[in-house]
Amino acid sequence: PGPIKEYSKAEVAKHNTVKDGIWVTYKGNVYDVTQFVEQHPGGDKIMLAAGGALEPFWSLYAVHNSEEVKEILQEMHIGSL
Ligand code: HEM
Repeated sequence: PGPIKEYSKAEVAKHNTVKDGIWVTYKGNVYDVTQFVEQHPGGDKIMLAAGGALEPFWSLYAVHNSEEVKEILQEMHIGSL
């Protein structure tokens, strides 16, 4: 693996459509979830976080508080904030 790439919140915010790619942030890390959105068990709700932080949503939907979810996220890691 190369050096960890850093992105600004403004750059992440531009990635909120399938066309531009769908990025989210979690605990200071940036993830490209474009390919995952179709597979999301919670359907379209994932798009509420597109281009921004997962925390406000995951604090409401505790179903994400699992090792399985953390592993899915890790595979989509592209950098840090
Ligand atoms: C369920 C992953 C974002 C709402 C799930 C499940 C996974 C998952 C693996 C199934 C969990 C289980 O049944 O054990 C993810 C990932 C996300 C993400 C990797 C971001 C990259 C979101 C967001 C919301 C959300 C932003 C809400 C705004 C839900 C809901 C369910 C769910 C409501 C329950 C669906 C059901 O069982 O009927 N998610 N999620 N998710 N997710 Fe997400």
